[in-house]
Amino acid sequence: MTRYNPLILAAALVIALIAGVLLWRAGSEPVTAGSSGEASSSAQGTGIATIGGPFTLTDETGHEVTDADFTGKYMLIYFGFTSCPDVCPTELQAMTTAIDALGAAGDNIQPVLVSVDPERDTPEVLAPYVKQFSPRLKGLTGTPDQLAAVAKEYKVFYEKVKDETSSDDYTMDHSSVVYLMGPDGKFLTFFGPGTTPDKMAEKIKSLM
Ligand code: NI
Repeated sequence: MTRYNPLILAAALVIALIAGVLLWRAGSEPVTAGSSGEASSSAQGTGIATIGGPFTLTDETGHEVTDADFTGKYMLIYFGFTSCPDVCPTELQAMTTAIDALGAAGDNIQPVLVSVDPERDTPEVLAPYVKQFSPRLKGLTGTPDQLAAVAKEYKVFYEKVKDETSSDDYTMDHSSVVYLMGPDGKFLTFFGPGTTPDKMAEKIKSLM
């Protein structure tokens, strides 16, 4: 008689739930993908291939930037906000560690944080924040409309929610996905929450 380990079953259920939420938040198109980028091989013919697009935002130095400023280099892009207590710092750390681990090849990858909290994340707030992670990391913000437009293109969900646990009056609920875009600005793969820097570096290397 075969017995299933209840812990393994519980773990599988949790993974399925996370994947479901991730994909639901990633958009309404039917996509099939693992938690860390297996989507790339089947990207054509699914909604996920349409991730990305033109944007106009402001960087952490206060200068206007567009998607065109990022072409010619790979881009590792994440949507989050500076007062996020743990998820955003973990992902930004993973991104910058992975790029550093790639050595010289890493110089060809631009890590980017796009803020989903434009009210608080001004360039003045973003500049010291991104520097904590890496001198390579760019921090982008913009008007609420500009951010809504870019988030829609990247199929990123975010919303302001009341924060009962802190003196801040709100926090941001947001999807946590790292996207790798090619030098032509086209989507290559994505990494789900908690992907290790090693796994990220390995996958990026295989796609460069
Ligand atoms: Ni966050």
